[in-house]
Amino acid sequence: MTATTRPLDGAIALVTGAASGIGHAIAHRFAADGATVIAADIDDTGLARLHEQIGAAVHPVHCDVTSEAEVEAACAVAAGLGGLDIAVANAGRGAFAPVVDHPLDEWRAIMDLCVTGVFLTVKHSALVMRDGGSVITIASLNGTQPSAGMSAYCTAKAGVMMFTKVAAMELGSRGIRVNAIAPGLVQTNATGAFWMVPGVVEEFVDNTTLGRFAQPADIAAAAAYLAGPDSSFVSGTVLAVDGGASTKRYPDLPAAFARMAAPTE
Ligand SMILES: NC(=O)c1ccc[n+]([C@@H]2O[C@H](COP(=O)([O-])OP(=O)(O)OC[C@H]3O[C@@H](n4cnc5c(N)ncnc54)[C@H](O)[C@@H]3O)[C@@H](O)[C@H]2O)c1
Repeated sequence: MTATTRPLDGAIALVTGAASGIGHAIAHRFAADGATVIAADIDDTGLARLHEQIGAAVHPVHCDVTSEAEVEAACAVAAGLGGLDIAVANAGRGAFAPVVDHPLDEWRAIMDLCVTGVFLTVKHSALVMRDGGSVITIASLNGTQPSAGMSAYCTAKAGVMMFTKVAAMELGSRGIRVNAIAPGLVQTNATGAFWMVPGVVEEFVDNTTLGRFAQPADIAAAAAYLAGPDSSFVSGTVLAVDGGASTKRYPDLPAAFARMAAPTE
């Protein structure tokens, strides 16, 4: 009887923000596809849960992606295992504030996590990556589609898209591919608030060609494609995984929040 081969058998992968949501689903998918996953996050409880679920194929590493020393240490775990084949710079979050009210420290925190965190992850991953590897960044529909109230996040995600293309240019000579995924609305802890505001999810779905929001597994499937051999000639691209939302318009979030805050008769 021949053993079944899996698309990522023998691969070593780093996934940041792996304790929850999209990163958690990517860690599960990569492990199911045969990879050993270095799961990096600041949420140690979530990492321990992931480790319990997947077992020895996961190496949980406490890592704040805004700290160069911690990112370097997470990548050293990969080096210790023989080198990295796949890196997913996924950790990120948004903030909601109109430009004129946006606190500077919150703006800087979003840039630090979403842009500098991606830069540090890609920098140190590439340093320990074997030639022919795959780097994936997680951008957003908001990298191209603006939303009022989300200036820092939209700006950061547009930056991730451009950074991805520059990294692809620089790393191509080593056969390393660098691509971004731009998800639309995905049901995770990060977007939980949208389900609390009447009408918001409905507006998202109305503005999504395929008429639904995504689950983290939808994004993990795209990551599996970009990580594996089926995308061997794909680099420097942004893969929209948004059900066609980029063909329509972003929901009017300020209007929805204002409706919710308005006193009822
Ligand atoms: N959920 C969506 O609708 C959606 C849409 C587009 C893009 N994205 C992007 O997908 C990525 C994942 O988002 P999610 O929805 O899964 O969110 P999530 O909140 O479910 O998970 C984010 C994870 O990142 C971790 N994290 C936060 N700060 C960190 C840091 N400094 N260092 C390391 N880890 C850190 C958190 O602990 C958490 O485990 C983000 O970059 C987000 O911007 C999400």
